[in-house]
Amino acid sequence: MRKIVYIGMSADLVHPGHMNIIKEAAKLGEVVVGLLTDKAIASYKRLPYMNYAQRYDVIENIKGVKSVIPQETLDYRPNLEKLKPDFVVHGDDWQQGVQKQTRSQVIECIKQWGGQLVEVPYTVGISSSNLNKSLREIGTTPDVRRGRLRRLIETKSPVRILESHNALSALIAENVKSNLGVEFDGFWSSSLTDSTSKGKPDIETVDLTSRITTINEIFEVTTKPLIYDADTGGIAEHFAFTVRTLERTGVSAVIIEDKVGLKKNSLLGNDVFQKQDSIDTFSNKIRAGKQAQVTEEFMIIARIESLILEQGMEDALERANAYVNAGADGIMIHSRMKSADEIISFCRHFRLAHESVPIIVVPTSFNEVTASALSEVGVNVVIYANQMLRAAYPAMQNTALSILTHDRSHEAEQELLSVKEILSLIPGTN
Ligand code: SPV
Ligand code: MG
Repeated sequence: MRKIVYIGMSADLVHPGHMNIIKEAAKLGEVVVGLLTDKAIASYKRLPYMNYAQRYDVIENIKGVKSVIPQETLDYRPNLEKLKPDFVVHGDDWQQGVQKQTRSQVIECIKQWGGQLVEVPYTVGISSSNLNKSLREIGTTPDVRRGRLRRLIETKSPVRILESHNALSALIAENVKSNLGVEFDGFWSSSLTDSTSKGKPDIETVDLTSRITTINEIFEVTTKPLIYDADTGGIAEHFAFTVRTLERTGVSAVIIEDKVGLKKNSLLGNDVFQKQDSIDTFSNKIRAGKQAQVTEEFMIIARIESLILEQGMEDALERANAYVNAGADGIMIHSRMKSADEIISFCRHFRLAHESVPIIVVPTSFNEVTASALSEVGVNVVIYANQMLRAAYPAMQNTALSILTHDRSHEAEQELLSVKEILSLIPGTN
């Protein structure tokens, strides 16, 4: 009987290193590729460029591959236990680094039936990480970027989104990574911080053209998806055009809030006069947007202001139902309480009726709750809506004051990025 040889791979950016492993594996027997699902990949690194079906198509047609099965977790063991392969083949690069533990688990597991690990020398000079880096330099297209948010929501929780009011702040959101390898998944174009950056109040006075100019600047230098804060969305007839403009640009989702008249920022709540829209009128606006939509993956998210305007949980839940029935692709529930209790309570109730409709939250006031804790109660997307601009402004204000106070920049200097650093911050400056 032919021996069974197992290879686990993501196969997103297929390169000669993969071919070498498959070739070596085929010498040992029948090659079964355990193709990591989008979910398995997103659990430890960024979402693959190609989805599972596309990657499946590529791998299935490679010479030497007998069959392809899904590997649902980073952990090889569930598939190995099922298949009991004679060999597992892997590049020898996993002897060090993050995959070290996975390697030991594989060795232990296949020992049970006398299976063997065969390691192929790593192909020097080419790796998925390098390819990923060059792909980022090349950039992306509006079509690819637009679809990424839906894919992210389907494959990981929580999706973390950071406010970006210009290209430079977006570059930080694109590239920053924690020690544990956690990244932001995309950008929030906030009406608050976009208007504030332009010196205007957050009352729908910055027009769509101006907002889109900023987004295009962000898109020129990044690859991650963007969610657009469209305030009330204006009247239904205008909203239909906004949807098309955003889609064409490559924006992934728009959020509209159920308010009418002169819109003020939600964090002001009832301290100022704000009026909530009727369920019927707002539902019609959602329908008008969904009808205008050209692509399948664009999302229209309905934002409920009932808790902000102290209308109660029942009103919030009634609206959520109505908006989902009108075609909303997700619900954003907002609150300006210090505690996350009312948000959590909303999520629990909403989930009883809607198992998988995405929930989006903006924890500006309730900032003690972690994204992971929100994810546990059913939240899909967490938006950090204004922190980047709020960080930048005091730093600039202090610097300006220091220069005036001391009549020179010497004292401010130690808080600043050096001239050498700023010249090398963006590739291509020198
Ligand atoms: C924004 O960032 O502009 C928002 C969120 O709409 S909030 O400021 O909390 O209303
Ligand atoms: Mg806003």
